[in-house]
Amino acid sequence: MAKDLNQVVYQIYPLSFKDSNGDGIGDLNGIITELDYLKDLGVDVIWLSPVYQSPMDDNGYDISDYYEVNPMFGSKTDLMNLLNKAHEKGLKVIMDLVLNHTSDEHVWFKEALKGPNNPYYDYYIWSDTPSDITSVFSGSAWQYVEHLKQYYFHLFSVKQPDLNWQNKTLRTEIYRMINYWLDLGFDGFRLDVIDLIGKDVYSKRLADGPYLDAYLEELYETCFKGREVFTVGEMPGISLKRANEITSTHPALDMVFQFDHIALDEQPGQGKWMLKTLDLHALKQTLNNTQQIFKDKGWPSLFLSNHDQPRAVSRYGNPSEKYRNDSAKMLFTLLFGMKGTPYIYQGEEFGMTGIKMAIEDYKDIETKNIYQELKQKGFKEADIMNSIYAKSRDNSRTPMQWNETVNAGFSTGSPWLKVNPNYVLINRDTDQKDPNGIITYVKDLLKLRKSNPLFNTGAFNLLFEDHPNLFIYERASETERIVVVCNWTDVTIENPLSIEKMSVLLSNSTDHITLKPYYTGIYYEKRTIHA
Ligand code: NOJ
Repeated sequence: MAKDLNQVVYQIYPLSFKDSNGDGIGDLNGIITELDYLKDLGVDVIWLSPVYQSPMDDNGYDISDYYEVNPMFGSKTDLMNLLNKAHEKGLKVIMDLVLNHTSDEHVWFKEALKGPNNPYYDYYIWSDTPSDITSVFSGSAWQYVEHLKQYYFHLFSVKQPDLNWQNKTLRTEIYRMINYWLDLGFDGFRLDVIDLIGKDVYSKRLADGPYLDAYLEELYETCFKGREVFTVGEMPGISLKRANEITSTHPALDMVFQFDHIALDEQPGQGKWMLKTLDLHALKQTLNNTQQIFKDKGWPSLFLSNHDQPRAVSRYGNPSEKYRNDSAKMLFTLLFGMKGTPYIYQGEEFGMTGIKMAIEDYKDIETKNIYQELKQKGFKEADIMNSIYAKSRDNSRTPMQWNETVNAGFSTGSPWLKVNPNYVLINRDTDQKDPNGIITYVKDLLKLRKSNPLFNTGAFNLLFEDHPNLFIYERASETERIVVVCNWTDVTIENPLSIEKMSVLLSNSTDHITLKPYYTGIYYEKRTIHA
């Protein structure tokens, strides 16, 4: 039987979700208290960002023991409790698998540092001379080790040495670990930067490297085959076409995160910090491309947000008091009317916004490094901070805003990262009580998606493609069609569609003729069959 990928995934970033013991850090027991909320929202799958043992240089994406739970999040028993309670409610839990690198505090790396005669040395990537490859987190990707007179390779922080996947024993160890979590009952994985595992550093083929296909195949055969596993691979370095090929040919990955639509507010080729105003036309083209490429085969993931991306409503919508609610609903509708698996990042469901902090208050390693790098390159402080306000990963990592009590109900202690002061107005409870709230809308939208297969099967056609304010598309079969209308701007527009014969399935407005700023609506009609 084909896997049901028409599921809704909710990402939890444990550090910032809910603190149950007052230490200022979110934890597993905190998550357990909110499972009913997630179920009620319409979630099927919880993706848990890493909770493994880690020195937290990159907030858990630097793992020092793949088999242990970081005590700051709780114990293995708490994790199993979370899994069992989730299962009782019909929720799946997928773990975050970080396979491209470990922490430098992992025992493998500590052993590797003993030199070429140690069996773990070859688990990592070494060179006598550094090449010009740079780290995603600034500076060279090569770190010198004095006593070895050699450099090790790290595409992320210095404390995240890359694993050498070409070592067969390493791969066997990794597969053993994956099977351990599957045997415990976990339902699958989000695979961190998995496009990098097939790399050949020496010929500088990093993302989608020469061994990627072979390793994905081996991963499937050794771990996933014969099991019901939900998998999504993060692949920032691949093209849409390749994403489609991978999800239609590799059973190891049900879907991938591909980033063409995410990179549209960056100066092409200059990295995420060099800002560019997003052009609606480019967004239409990119999302249209995705939908066309994935039309008949492969499966896309539908996401705007995660723990690495700034808050969607601040980035693409309008976070002002006047328009936040409508623009958040518009963004959800625009995306979730398409073919694919919907992803919601914690707090997105009630329109949490980005934050502006003093540089000392940022905790993210990428942000701290780029600040130093851009300063050294002579960029003006104000320009650097503008980029950071727009793009820092801490925008989406501020604690979850549950209610209007102290620290937004996240923690009774001192939160590890500043709570956005707007929590008094923007929080889960306030939104949930509001009949016009975003949560209610998202619930209705998810139900609607599930009630009509056309959302996944209908032909995707852009309508009024050149309209400068409206993003309109249809999902059509021969007998019926759904039309999604979104006003991307703060301007009031006349609806260019004649909608007399259509019923409105969902909208953030009662007026479908004169479309208010950030209007959104989903219409339905049976099609007349012409003889
Ligand atoms: C992608 C993860 O989403 C990000 O948070 C992390 O810093 C890098 N991979 C490195 O693991």
